[in-house]
Amino acid sequence: MTNFLFFLLLFYLSLVKNCFNFHIPQSSYDTKIQSQNDLLLNVNITQPKNDINYSNDDHLAIHKHHNRNHNSKPNKPLPKNDELLVNTQNGMIRGKAFYLDHHLPKSARSRNYPYGKKKYRVNGWLGIPYAEKPINDLRFKRPVPVKNWDNVINATELPNSCFQLHDTVITGFDGVEIWNANTNISEDCLYLNIWTPYPKPKKSAVMVWIYGGGFSSGTSTLKIYDPKIIVAETQLIVVSIQYRLSIFGFLYMNHESAPGNQGLLDQNLALKWIQNNIQYFGGDSDKITIFGESAGSVSVSLHLLSPLSSNLFHNAIMESGTAIADWAILNHEDSMKRYTGILNSLGCSGTSEEMIECAKKVDARTAIEKSDEYFYSKATHGVAQFTFLPVVDKYFLEEEPINLLNRGKFKKCPVLLGGNKDEGNWLFVYAFPEYRNLTVRPNFDYEIFKDFITSLYYFYPQFPETSSKAILNAILYRYSNWDNVHNDKKNFENLDDAAGDFHFLCPTIDFANIYAMNQMDVYFYHYTQRSSRHYWPEWLGVMHGDEISFVFGEPLCPEKNFTQSEKVLARKILKYWSNFARYSNPNGPSNPDEFYNENIIFSDDKSSSPKNKIDSNNNNNNTLTQTLMQPIEHWPKYEIQVNPNDDRQRAYITLNSEKIEVGYNLRAEYCAFWGSFLPNLILGEARSFDKLISVEEKLGVSQSFENLFLCGTLKVLNQIDDNRFLIDDNQLSNRFLISHPIIKDKMTW
Ligand SMILES: *[C@@H]1O[C@H](CO)[C@@H](O)[C@H](O)[C@H]1NC(C)=O
Ligand SMILES: *[C@@H]1O[C@H](CO)[C@@H](O)[C@H](O)[C@H]1NC(C)=O
Ligand SMILES: *[C@@H]1O[C@H](CO)[C@@H](O)[C@H](O)[C@H]1NC(C)=O
Ligand SMILES: *[C@@H]1O[C@H](CO)[C@@H](O)[C@H](O)[C@H]1NC(C)=O
Ligand SMILES: *[C@@H]1O[C@H](CO)[C@@H](O)[C@H](O)[C@H]1NC(C)=O
Ligand SMILES: *[C@@H]1O[C@H](CO)[C@@H](O)[C@H](O)[C@H]1NC(C)=O
Ligand SMILES: *[C@@H]1O[C@H](CO)[C@@H](O)[C@H](O)[C@H]1NC(C)=O
Repeated sequence: MTNFLFFLLLFYLSLVKNCFNFHIPQSSYDTKIQSQNDLLLNVNITQPKNDINYSNDDHLAIHKHHNRNHNSKPNKPLPKNDELLVNTQNGMIRGKAFYLDHHLPKSARSRNYPYGKKKYRVNGWLGIPYAEKPINDLRFKRPVPVKNWDNVINATELPNSCFQLHDTVITGFDGVEIWNANTNISEDCLYLNIWTPYPKPKKSAVMVWIYGGGFSSGTSTLKIYDPKIIVAETQLIVVSIQYRLSIFGFLYMNHESAPGNQGLLDQNLALKWIQNNIQYFGGDSDKITIFGESAGSVSVSLHLLSPLSSNLFHNAIMESGTAIADWAILNHEDSMKRYTGILNSLGCSGTSEEMIECAKKVDARTAIEKSDEYFYSKATHGVAQFTFLPVVDKYFLEEEPINLLNRGKFKKCPVLLGGNKDEGNWLFVYAFPEYRNLTVRPNFDYEIFKDFITSLYYFYPQFPETSSKAILNAILYRYSNWDNVHNDKKNFENLDDAAGDFHFLCPTIDFANIYAMNQMDVYFYHYTQRSSRHYWPEWLGVMHGDEISFVFGEPLCPEKNFTQSEKVLARKILKYWSNFARYSNPNGPSNPDEFYNENIIFSDDKSSSPKNKIDSNNNNNNTLTQTLMQPIEHWPKYEIQVNPNDDRQRAYITLNSEKIEVGYNLRAEYCAFWGSFLPNLILGEARSFDKLISVEEKLGVSQSFENLFLCGTLKVLNQIDDNRFLIDDNQLSNRFLISHPIIKDKMTW
């Protein structure tokens, strides 16, 4: 029985990927990070010697005043050597130069830098404030634009990370630690970072990174998000932004003092700041691409849906997640109920206003810990459940995302999106202790498989709704390996798919479908590259978040010892992403003359001959540089019903170092299952199947069944299904644990 309880505890308090953590944070929690200069990828960072005359701040001040009289225009040219000093609309900031000096072997360097060494310099302005500190009375409020400042701000250190707990699911293990905040954790965290090529570009396209972490963790400062390689390689400007998390970023009491979506409005304000100021850094405010992963990807999709953000960017990249994922959004009622309970658990009661005032005084760490404790004492099963979420607040988000999409109320722009091969396993690391054995893959006989499915979907589509037996049976039916239900490996893989499809892949595919049906340019990828430098064991596969390392060019860092073919893939991904940012098309411009900086190449073979040239006109193909320069494969548009007689609908590419291939209809039957079959099943159970039609009418969904197949998500049900099917806990415990001796025996957890 003790084991049983222990299991329940672990399971109930399931943690989801670097998103929240129920364990007691370590004491090192808010200690200072040793070296903020120790940025990404072992790049040797050197303080510039002659870039700035630091000794004469008066000179800078005079210069600043001079420029601030011309705020509406881009900066006057700054004096020579002062290119790190930028006059923003809020005041002057001084940046810092970074040198990526290892990308060519030393011996080859002098000959092989076509534009001289400076080509591999990247300028950074780190920790630029874009909002007033959201502390004291501003806690829980919408962000307030930063006040202008008079003195020069040194934007040379990475900013604080927004308040969050450290993930201690496996302490000291890099596979977990790389996601943990690496700068001071503080509520004072509304900053952004800008990284530009050197010399200063004229009108560069800009990419803005929004981190993930389940709206409860994450920070722009992680080493895996260091954009220096992207900037050097693609000569684009990259900006990364901080936004508030958990209770600070998402408390919603339908009240101006806690209006909800604060974290998204932080992002929105940061995007406005970028709109107004990126020109002073050589950026083009008419060429902004937002990109993000997981909750960051959900954020990107929400900016596509929010009228407040639609004029702040031009292209969107979504990696593994969109707003129609079951875990991504709460409605008004569920939010009010949940957050009232949470505030009560913080010792705050009374009117909304009184509760909020009281919560403002609660110590930040206690506020998060108690909130999680309250929530996970209720949401006792399943994965991908987060205490605080974006909400339909009728301000930033006017309606349920699925309704906005079905009604065509979204930003019409090109999108690039996709997901990874084994998205589900990340979630299980937090839900199932067996997944934390870094050497041995857990056993999955059919009985265990069934039990895991039953528990994973106890709450469906989302807490607090619970599943009926018919729902659970349907899921089990769809994901059973009927060729041989005792195939242990297959059961393991199918469980991963059951979670990955539902939580990440199908919401991304459905989102793509709706964009494609509206004749938007859509480019879809399926990332299947198992990194040779992966921290997690092979059997966990290509996990949620794995593509980030390649999107940020980590394999091009020679010290990381990636394989040559991985370097080629990383380069191709950089090319696709940056082409998309520049030309709204991952394949590049229609006119090849528009290609920009094709000569920017990295070679990283320390043994390559110094004679090798990197000039792209050179026919010498012995050089690794040239190998790295392989042309990108054509990435076809994701389209629907081009030719009704052709089954090859919805083209996508697989991103893999062995081969980049075109595929069609990725997981179509599984997404139809989650998006259409199950909702219909619930409807059929709840009322009668006929009701479907009136539901479609009510939601403004077009009448065809196929349309529901393509667009439907479970979110519809939130509005139509007031019949909840409740299974009481005892019943579940019986089914899930007691009746299965196999699990009990194995339960050393
Ligand atoms: C981080 O926090 C420590 C302790 O509060 C403080 O001494 C240090 O100055 C902070 N570092 C930064 C960069 O703000
Ligand atoms: C970084 O570069 C500086 C200046 O070139 C050099 O003195 C230093 O040894 C380098 N550090 C490393 C770790 O390569
Ligand atoms: C910095 O610039 C000022 C004004 O141009 C000049 O007088 C001073 O000598 C310079 N200092 C150094 C260290 O170069
Ligand atoms: C900014 O950095 C410069 C050079 O290190 C230093 O002289 C100056 O005092 C700093 N200013 C502030 C406000 O910290
Ligand atoms: C992993 O599982 C194997 C086999 O059950 C066991 O011997 C080993 O101790 C486990 N390792 C850890 C870290 O739990
Ligand atoms: C890469 O390989 C070198 C030489 O074998 C080794 O010294 C270094 O530790 C490796 N780096 C990593 C990150 O594994
Ligand atoms: C490239 O190398 C291969 C084999 O090393 C050779 O067959 C081919 O002709 C070379 N191509 C060029 C353009 O030099």
